[in-house]
Amino acid sequence: MQLIVATRNAHKTREIEQIFGSASAVRDLTAHPEISEITESGMSFEENAKLKAIAVSRKLPGLVIADDSGLEVDALGGAPGVRSARYAGVNASNTERIAKLLSRVANTGTKSDRRRARFRCVLAVARDGHVLATFEGVVDGKIAERPRGSHGFGYDPIFIPDGFKETFAELPEEVKNNISHRAEAVRKLQAELPTLCREA
Ligand code: IMP
Repeated sequence: MQLIVATRNAHKTREIEQIFGSASAVRDLTAHPEISEITESGMSFEENAKLKAIAVSRKLPGLVIADDSGLEVDALGGAPGVRSARYAGVNASNTERIAKLLSRVANTGTKSDRRRARFRCVLAVARDGHVLATFEGVVDGKIAERPRGSHGFGYDPIFIPDGFKETFAELPEEVKNNISHRAEAVRKLQAELPTLCREA
């Protein structure tokens, strides 16, 4: 089965591909430079995932999957949340986003739970401009004192999933792709895929 993932983030594509396994051929927007960047104007991961899935499925045939995801830190009232990619400005680097987040967390006091956080991922599936379904995945954990590790992307070097001492960037890819927010959402989608294909 051929699935199109509405992203140009090669890390996301690779993770989704690995979680799906060999039964599905996953393609992203790399081969479609004609599709312009979609403004993520929604107030929630679900809204943004739907926006992206609808826009891309109007341009490309077949089932289109869009991932909107991010990090929610309790001590920061759920920030950076939907603004995870733009947390330190649109042109900022991962290092700058992580530095800003660590300094904000450090300034929130000494309560032991100030580092509680979670990654959330919503996948929207659309065809011909219509959303067929959405799926959510969450992984709970805490923010590390400093960045560690070189795997993964984004905030992985500062996220320690519950049950581990290592950050996502220190853990082997297979481990992250087994327990992550994206893995949970993709597995839910995978379970519904036969039905979605029949209905589409
Ligand atoms: P968007 O879904 O393209 O808006 O971007 C989500 C942003 O959230 C990414 O650019 C990362 O900064 C962050 N993010 C989402 N998922 C992950 C993950 O699995 N690891 C690390 N950072 C993530």
